[in-house]
Amino acid sequence: MGYDLAAISNALTEGLKAFETAADADALENARREYLGSKGVAKAILGGIKDVPKEERGEYGKAANVLNAKLTEAFKAAQARVGAGKPSGKPGIDLTKPGKRREIGHAHLITQTIEEIVEIFGRIGFSQVEGPEVEDEFHNFDALNIPAGHPARDEADNFFLQLNAPDWDAKPVPMLLRSQTSTIQIRTMESRKPPVRVIAPGRVYRPDTVDATHMYMFHQIEGLAVAEDLTFADLKSVLELFVREYFGADTKMRFRPHYFPFTEPSAEVDIDCQMFKHLKKPWLEILGCGMVDPNVLNAVGYDPARYTGFAFGMGVERIAMLKHRIGDIRHFTTNDMRFLSQF
Ligand code: DAH
Repeated sequence: MGYDLAAISNALTEGLKAFETAADADALENARREYLGSKGVAKAILGGIKDVPKEERGEYGKAANVLNAKLTEAFKAAQARVGAGKPSGKPGIDLTKPGKRREIGHAHLITQTIEEIVEIFGRIGFSQVEGPEVEDEFHNFDALNIPAGHPARDEADNFFLQLNAPDWDAKPVPMLLRSQTSTIQIRTMESRKPPVRVIAPGRVYRPDTVDATHMYMFHQIEGLAVAEDLTFADLKSVLELFVREYFGADTKMRFRPHYFPFTEPSAEVDIDCQMFKHLKKPWLEILGCGMVDPNVLNAVGYDPARYTGFAFGMGVERIAMLKHRIGDIRHFTTNDMRFLSQF
Protein backbone atom coordinates (compact mmCIF):
# COMPACT_ATOMS: atom_id res chain seq x y z
CA MET A 1 0.00 0.00 0.00
CA GLY A 2 3.01 2.23 0.57
CA TYR A 3 3.30 2.83 -3.13
CA ASP A 4 -0.31 3.46 -3.95
CA LEU A 5 -0.44 6.50 -6.29
CA ALA A 6 -4.16 6.97 -5.63
CA ALA A 7 -3.35 7.45 -1.93
CA ILE A 8 -0.98 10.27 -2.82
CA SER A 9 -3.66 11.89 -4.94
CA ASN A 10 -6.21 11.67 -2.11
CA ALA A 11 -3.72 13.01 0.41
CA LEU A 12 -3.10 15.96 -1.88
CA THR A 13 -6.80 16.75 -2.30
CA GLU A 14 -7.54 16.51 1.40
CA GLY A 15 -4.40 18.33 2.49
CA LEU A 16 -5.05 21.26 0.15
CA LYS A 17 -8.61 21.48 1.43
CA ALA A 18 -7.44 21.43 5.05
CA PHE A 19 -5.06 24.38 4.45
CA GLU A 20 -7.56 26.33 2.37
CA THR A 21 -10.32 26.03 4.96
CA ALA A 22 -8.18 26.67 8.04
CA ALA A 23 -10.00 29.65 9.59
CA ASP A 24 -7.47 30.68 12.22
CA ALA A 25 -3.98 30.03 13.48
CA ASP A 26 -5.10 27.07 15.60
CA ALA A 27 -6.83 25.27 12.71
CA LEU A 28 -3.82 25.93 10.50
CA GLU A 29 -1.44 24.48 13.08
CA ASN A 30 -3.57 21.33 13.28
CA ALA A 31 -3.51 20.96 9.48
CA ARG A 32 0.24 21.57 9.42
CA ARG A 33 0.83 18.86 12.00
CA GLU A 34 -1.38 16.39 10.17
CA TYR A 35 0.05 16.91 6.69
CA LEU A 36 3.53 18.43 7.07
CA GLY A 37 4.56 17.50 10.62
CA SER A 38 7.36 15.05 11.46
CA LYS A 39 4.75 12.32 11.84
CA GLY A 40 2.49 13.73 9.13
CA VAL A 41 1.13 12.37 5.88
CA ALA A 42 3.78 13.87 3.59
CA LYS A 43 6.67 12.54 5.70
CA ALA A 44 5.15 9.05 5.68
CA ILE A 45 4.72 9.02 1.91
CA LEU A 46 8.23 10.41 1.28
CA GLY A 47 9.58 7.85 3.73
CA GLY A 48 7.87 5.10 1.74
CA ILE A 49 9.75 5.83 -1.49
CA LYS A 50 12.59 3.55 -0.58
CA ASP A 51 10.21 0.59 -0.23
CA VAL A 52 8.74 0.98 -3.72
CA PRO A 53 9.97 -1.57 -6.30
CA LYS A 54 12.65 -0.05 -8.53
CA GLU A 55 10.63 0.11 -11.75
CA GLU A 56 7.80 2.15 -10.06
CA ARG A 57 10.01 4.21 -7.77
CA GLY A 58 10.61 7.03 -10.26
CA GLU A 59 6.98 7.78 -10.82
CA TYR A 60 6.06 7.33 -7.16
CA GLY A 61 8.93 9.46 -5.91
CA LYS A 62 8.01 12.28 -8.27
CA ALA A 63 4.38 12.24 -7.13
CA ALA A 64 5.48 12.19 -3.49
CA ASN A 65 7.73 15.23 -3.99
CA VAL A 66 5.00 17.12 -5.85
CA LEU A 67 2.64 16.38 -2.96
CA ASN A 68 5.13 17.73 -0.44
CA ALA A 69 5.82 20.86 -2.48
CA LYS A 70 2.12 21.62 -3.11
CA LEU A 71 1.14 21.12 0.53
CA THR A 72 4.02 23.34 1.69
CA GLU A 73 2.93 26.03 -0.75
CA ALA A 74 -0.71 25.75 0.43
CA PHE A 75 0.43 25.99 4.04
CA LYS A 76 2.39 29.19 3.34
CA ALA A 77 -0.56 30.74 1.52
CA ALA A 78 -2.86 29.87 4.40
CA GLN A 79 -0.35 31.32 6.87
CA ALA A 80 -0.33 34.62 4.97
CA ARG A 81 -4.11 34.67 4.99
CA VAL A 82 -4.69 33.72 8.62
CA GLY A 83 -1.81 35.81 9.95
CA ALA A 84 1.64 34.79 10.96
CA GLY A 85 0.84 35.01 14.67
CA LYS A 86 1.43 32.04 16.90
CA PRO A 87 -1.63 29.96 17.67
CA SER A 88 -3.03 31.48 20.80
CA GLY A 89 -5.65 29.00 21.77
CA LYS A 90 -8.16 31.85 21.18
CA PRO A 91 -9.69 33.26 18.00
CA GLY A 92 -7.26 35.70 16.31
CA ILE A 93 -9.65 38.67 16.11
CA ASP A 94 -12.06 39.74 18.82
CA LEU A 95 -14.94 41.21 16.84
CA THR A 96 -16.63 42.47 19.99
CA LYS A 97 -13.79 44.91 20.79
CA PRO A 98 -14.44 48.64 20.10
CA GLY A 99 -12.66 49.98 17.00
CA LYS A 100 -9.62 52.24 17.09
CA ARG A 101 -10.67 55.90 17.25
CA ARG A 102 -8.75 58.14 14.88
CA GLU A 103 -8.15 61.65 16.21
CA ILE A 104 -9.19 64.12 13.52
CA GLY A 105 -8.06 67.69 14.07
CA HIS A 106 -9.95 70.85 13.14
CA ALA A 107 -9.24 74.42 12.18
CA HIS A 108 -7.94 76.81 14.88
CA LEU A 109 -10.60 79.10 16.36
CA ILE A 110 -8.99 82.12 14.65
CA THR A 111 -9.22 80.38 11.27
CA GLN A 112 -12.83 79.38 11.99
CA THR A 113 -13.69 82.96 12.95
CA ILE A 114 -12.06 84.38 9.80
CA GLU A 115 -13.87 81.85 7.61
CA GLU A 116 -17.20 82.61 9.24
CA ILE A 117 -16.83 86.39 8.84
CA VAL A 118 -15.52 86.14 5.27
CA GLU A 119 -18.48 83.90 4.43
CA ILE A 120 -20.99 86.45 5.78
CA PHE A 121 -19.52 89.26 3.65
CA GLY A 122 -19.25 86.85 0.71
CA ARG A 123 -23.05 86.61 0.66
CA ILE A 124 -23.26 90.28 -0.31
CA GLY A 125 -20.57 90.24 -2.95
CA PHE A 126 -17.34 90.84 -1.01
CA SER A 127 -14.55 88.66 -2.42
CA GLN A 128 -11.54 87.60 -0.36
CA VAL A 129 -8.12 89.14 -1.04
CA GLU A 130 -4.79 89.05 0.76
CA GLY A 131 -1.60 91.08 0.95
CA PRO A 132 2.01 90.77 2.11
CA GLU A 133 2.96 90.85 5.80
CA VAL A 134 6.25 92.63 5.04
CA GLU A 135 5.26 96.04 3.74
CA ASP A 136 6.77 99.33 2.65
CA GLU A 137 5.92 102.65 4.25
CA PHE A 138 3.86 103.76 1.26
CA HIS A 139 1.27 100.99 1.67
CA ASN A 140 1.28 100.96 5.48
CA PHE A 141 1.26 104.75 5.96
CA ASP A 142 1.61 107.31 3.15
CA ALA A 143 -1.15 106.04 0.86
CA LEU A 144 -3.40 105.71 3.92
CA ASN A 145 -3.06 109.42 4.61
CA ILE A 146 -0.67 108.90 7.53
CA PRO A 147 2.06 111.47 6.75
CA ALA A 148 5.72 111.51 7.84
CA GLY A 149 5.99 112.51 11.49
CA HIS A 150 2.58 111.06 12.40
CA PRO A 151 2.75 109.30 15.80
CA ALA A 152 1.46 106.03 14.26
CA ARG A 153 4.77 105.82 12.36
CA ASP A 154 6.89 106.00 15.52
CA GLU A 155 9.77 103.52 15.51
CA ALA A 156 8.79 102.28 18.94
CA ASP A 157 5.27 101.43 17.74
CA ASN A 158 6.20 99.39 14.68
CA PHE A 159 8.40 96.47 13.73
CA PHE A 160 10.72 98.14 11.22
CA LEU A 161 13.03 95.77 9.35
CA GLN A 162 16.62 96.24 8.27
CA LEU A 163 16.47 95.03 4.68
CA ASN A 164 19.28 95.67 2.27
CA ALA A 165 18.36 96.71 -1.24
CA PRO A 166 19.61 94.32 -3.94
CA ASP A 167 21.87 97.08 -5.22
CA TRP A 168 24.44 97.69 -2.42
CA ASP A 169 24.98 101.30 -3.40
CA ALA A 170 21.29 102.14 -3.30
CA LYS A 171 19.66 103.40 -0.13
CA PRO A 172 17.89 100.54 1.72
CA VAL A 173 14.11 100.79 1.38
CA PRO A 174 12.58 101.00 4.87
CA MET A 175 10.22 98.08 5.37
CA LEU A 176 8.10 96.90 8.29
CA LEU A 177 5.81 94.10 9.41
CA ARG A 178 2.42 95.62 8.55
CA SER A 179 0.67 97.15 11.56
CA GLN A 180 -2.80 96.98 9.95
CA THR A 181 -4.61 95.18 7.13
CA SER A 182 -5.62 98.57 5.71
CA THR A 183 -2.51 98.09 3.53
CA ILE A 184 -4.61 95.64 1.49
CA GLN A 185 -7.07 98.44 0.64
CA ILE A 186 -4.23 100.19 -1.16
CA ARG A 187 -2.92 97.06 -2.89
CA THR A 188 -6.41 96.16 -4.07
CA MET A 189 -7.14 99.59 -5.52
CA GLU A 190 -3.73 99.71 -7.20
CA SER A 191 -4.42 96.48 -9.05
CA ARG A 192 -8.13 96.86 -9.85
CA LYS A 193 -10.43 99.41 -11.38
CA PRO A 194 -13.60 100.35 -9.47
CA PRO A 195 -16.10 99.05 -8.54
CA VAL A 196 -14.30 96.97 -5.87
CA ARG A 197 -15.82 95.05 -2.98
CA VAL A 198 -13.28 93.04 -0.99
CA ILE A 199 -12.81 91.44 2.41
CA ALA A 200 -9.20 90.95 3.51
CA PRO A 201 -8.10 88.90 6.52
CA GLY A 202 -4.50 88.74 7.68
CA ARG A 203 -1.88 88.93 10.45
CA VAL A 204 -0.67 92.27 11.75
CA TYR A 205 2.22 93.13 14.08
CA ARG A 206 2.72 95.74 16.80
CA PRO A 207 5.37 95.86 19.54
CA ASP A 208 2.79 95.92 22.35
CA THR A 209 3.58 94.60 25.81
CA VAL A 210 1.87 91.23 26.05
CA ASP A 211 -1.03 91.00 28.49
CA ALA A 212 -4.54 89.51 28.54
CA THR A 213 -5.71 91.72 25.66
CA HIS A 214 -2.48 92.56 23.77
CA MET A 215 -0.13 90.53 21.59
CA TYR A 216 2.74 91.49 19.28
CA MET A 217 0.91 89.59 16.52
CA PHE A 218 -2.83 89.35 15.92
CA HIS A 219 -5.33 89.18 13.07
CA GLN A 220 -7.53 91.76 11.44
CA ILE A 221 -10.23 91.65 8.79
CA GLU A 222 -10.46 94.65 6.50
CA GLY A 223 -13.38 95.50 4.26
CA LEU A 224 -13.44 97.92 1.34
CA ALA A 225 -16.07 98.92 -1.19
CA VAL A 226 -15.60 101.61 -3.83
CA ALA A 227 -18.10 102.55 -6.52
CA GLU A 228 -19.74 105.60 -8.08
CA ASP A 229 -22.52 106.11 -5.61
CA LEU A 230 -21.69 104.63 -2.21
CA THR A 231 -22.80 106.49 0.92
CA PHE A 232 -22.60 106.08 4.67
CA ALA A 233 -26.04 104.41 4.46
CA ASP A 234 -24.44 101.56 2.47
CA LEU A 235 -21.70 101.18 5.08
CA LYS A 236 -24.33 101.11 7.79
CA SER A 237 -26.49 98.46 6.16
CA VAL A 238 -23.51 96.22 5.40
CA LEU A 239 -22.27 96.36 9.00
CA GLU A 240 -25.81 95.86 10.35
CA LEU A 241 -26.06 92.67 8.34
CA PHE A 242 -22.68 91.49 9.65
CA VAL A 243 -23.51 92.21 13.30
CA ARG A 244 -26.91 90.52 13.03
CA GLU A 245 -25.48 87.42 11.34
CA TYR A 246 -22.41 87.04 13.53
CA PHE A 247 -23.62 88.16 16.96
CA GLY A 248 -27.33 87.38 16.69
CA ALA A 249 -30.59 89.07 15.73
CA ASP A 250 -31.09 90.63 19.19
CA THR A 251 -27.89 92.68 18.90
CA LYS A 252 -28.13 96.45 19.22
CA MET A 253 -25.46 98.55 17.55
CA ARG A 254 -24.40 102.17 17.45
CA PHE A 255 -21.98 104.25 15.41
CA ARG A 256 -19.82 106.49 17.60
CA PRO A 257 -17.88 109.32 15.88
CA HIS A 258 -14.14 108.68 15.84
CA TYR A 259 -11.01 109.64 13.89
CA PHE A 260 -8.99 107.55 11.44
CA PRO A 261 -6.56 109.16 8.97
CA PHE A 262 -7.84 107.10 6.01
CA THR A 263 -11.57 107.68 6.44
CA GLU A 264 -13.70 110.82 6.63
CA PRO A 265 -16.11 110.76 8.36
CA SER A 266 -14.98 107.93 10.65
CA ALA A 267 -16.77 105.96 13.33
CA GLU A 268 -16.37 103.13 15.75
CA VAL A 269 -19.11 100.54 16.07
CA ASP A 270 -20.26 99.38 19.49
CA ILE A 271 -22.65 96.53 20.10
CA ASP A 272 -24.84 95.40 22.96
CA CYS A 273 -26.44 91.99 23.10
CA GLN A 274 -27.63 89.26 25.40
CA MET A 275 -24.43 87.31 24.78
CA PHE A 276 -22.39 89.90 26.73
CA LYS A 277 -24.60 90.31 29.79
CA HIS A 278 -21.84 88.67 31.87
CA LEU A 279 -19.41 91.49 31.04
CA LYS A 280 -21.72 94.04 32.72
CA LYS A 281 -20.81 96.71 30.16
CA PRO A 282 -23.57 98.34 28.13
CA TRP A 283 -21.54 98.84 24.91
CA LEU A 284 -18.58 96.99 23.47
CA GLU A 285 -16.45 98.33 20.65
CA ILE A 286 -16.00 95.86 17.80
CA LEU A 287 -14.62 97.74 14.80
CA GLY A 288 -13.53 100.97 13.12
CA CYS A 289 -15.00 102.25 9.87
CA GLY A 290 -15.76 105.24 7.70
CA MET A 291 -15.96 106.70 4.20
CA VAL A 292 -12.68 106.38 2.30
CA ASP A 293 -10.78 109.69 2.51
CA PRO A 294 -10.37 111.45 -0.89
CA ASN A 295 -6.59 111.58 -0.23
CA VAL A 296 -6.54 107.77 -0.19
CA LEU A 297 -8.43 107.60 -3.50
CA ASN A 298 -5.96 110.09 -4.99
CA ALA A 299 -2.99 108.04 -3.77
CA VAL A 300 -4.12 105.05 -5.84
CA GLY A 301 -5.22 107.05 -8.89
CA TYR A 302 -8.99 106.81 -8.33
CA ASP A 303 -10.89 109.99 -9.12
CA PRO A 304 -12.48 111.21 -5.84
CA ALA A 305 -14.91 113.38 -7.80
CA ARG A 306 -16.34 110.25 -9.41
CA TYR A 307 -15.90 107.52 -6.81
CA THR A 308 -16.77 107.15 -3.16
CA GLY A 309 -16.18 104.21 -0.87
CA PHE A 310 -16.39 102.86 2.63
CA ALA A 311 -13.96 100.79 4.67
CA PHE A 312 -13.93 98.98 7.97
CA GLY A 313 -11.46 96.99 10.05
CA MET A 314 -11.88 94.65 12.99
CA GLY A 315 -9.63 92.59 15.27
CA VAL A 316 -10.30 88.88 14.87
CA GLU A 317 -9.03 87.87 18.32
CA ARG A 318 -11.17 90.52 19.97
CA ILE A 319 -14.30 89.40 18.15
CA ALA A 320 -13.65 85.72 18.88
CA MET A 321 -12.92 86.51 22.56
CA LEU A 322 -16.22 88.38 22.89
CA LYS A 323 -18.27 85.69 21.20
CA HIS A 324 -16.68 82.71 22.96
CA ARG A 325 -16.06 84.39 26.35
CA ILE A 326 -12.30 83.97 26.21
CA GLY A 327 -10.55 85.94 28.92
CA ASP A 328 -6.96 85.98 27.68
CA ILE A 329 -5.62 86.54 24.15
CA ARG A 330 -2.54 84.42 24.94
CA HIS A 331 -4.67 81.26 24.80
CA PHE A 332 -4.71 81.55 21.01
CA THR A 333 -0.98 80.97 20.69
CA THR A 334 0.02 78.68 23.56
CA ASN A 335 -1.19 75.57 21.69
CA ASP A 336 -2.84 74.06 24.76
CA MET A 337 -5.14 71.30 23.53
CA ARG A 338 -7.46 71.79 26.52
CA PHE A 339 -8.22 75.24 25.09
CA LEU A 340 -8.09 74.46 21.37
CA SER A 341 -10.28 71.39 21.43
CA GLN A 342 -13.21 73.34 22.94
CA PHE A 343 -13.95 75.09 19.65
N1 DAH B 1 -6.66 100.09 10.54
C1 DAH B 1 -7.39 100.42 11.75
C2 DAH B 1 -6.61 99.91 12.96
O1 DAH B 1 -5.75 99.09 12.81
C3 DAH B 1 -8.76 99.80 11.74
C4 DAH B 1 -9.66 100.46 10.76
C5 DAH B 1 -10.41 101.56 11.12
C6 DAH B 1 -9.74 100.02 9.46
C7 DAH B 1 -11.24 102.19 10.23
C8 DAH B 1 -10.58 100.65 8.54
C9 DAH B 1 -11.32 101.74 8.94
O2 DAH B 1 -10.69 100.25 7.29
O3 DAH B 1 -12.12 102.36 8.04
O4 DAH B 1 -6.87 100.34 14.04
